Amino acid sequence: MFTQDELKRKVAAAAAEYALSCLDADSVLGVGTGSTVDCFIDAIAPHRERFRAAVSSSERSTQRMRDLGIKVLDLNDVEDMPLYVDGADEIDHGMNMIKGGGGALTREKIVASVARQFVCIVDASKVVDVLGTFPLPVEVIPMARNVVARRLREMGGEPRLREGFITDNGCEILDVAGLKITQPAQFEAQLNDIPGVVSCGLFAISGADLALVSSQEGVRRMHGPTAQRDI
Ligand code: A5P
Repeated sequence: MFTQDELKRKVAAAAAEYALSCLDADSVLGVGTGSTVDCFIDAIAPHRERFRAAVSSSERSTQRMRDLGIKVLDLNDVEDMPLYVDGADEIDHGMNMIKGGGGALTREKIVASVARQFVCIVDASKVVDVLGTFPLPVEVIPMARNVVARRLREMGGEPRLREGFITDNGCEILDVAGLKITQPAQFEAQLNDIPGVVSCGLFAISGADLALVSSQEGVRRMHGPTAQRDI
């Protein structure tokens, strides 16, 4: 029986192998944030000579990559990125995700928007039928915290301030419980429209292109509602 940490390391190793097959010496790799991504950084670091550099979605990942000798570029200096690799808190069979458990959702969304392909790396416990059991993180401008929270309550959620947490962008996070997100892209657009919301942790307007999912049986690929096959 593999532990959750072992499952994270297995999916990270599979992601490193996949990433290296997509990268060449001129490529810039997009790197997300979280404990699964930490394993991915560890897995890809020995192969850092095989790609040009990385762009990071958080101070945490930047630090880890630099410590391991991976060159990290400013996104402003990068125009093309074949691949972005990141974890998720939940992913459904339509490849929509909840992210931001680590609070890096806004930078993750920005870096992912540049990449041609989003590869999500998770263990099987994160694959759900309907998003929303994991409270949805919403990054807010601090002065708008209460007005945004009222709007979120009107939309059926139960927002709670992530106490003592400030994002890399100097903002706050409301974690919204009680949601059943049956129309993720539509809901994401509604949240994006609330003044004071910096971004939300729903990645549905632009979801994952490929998910690597690790379980006791191994690592499988998930492309969408029906297309699943072993790697
Ligand atoms: C970070 O802000 C998140 O989006 C992470 O990608 C997500 O929380 C998954 O993290 P773990 O790999 O630690 O579960």
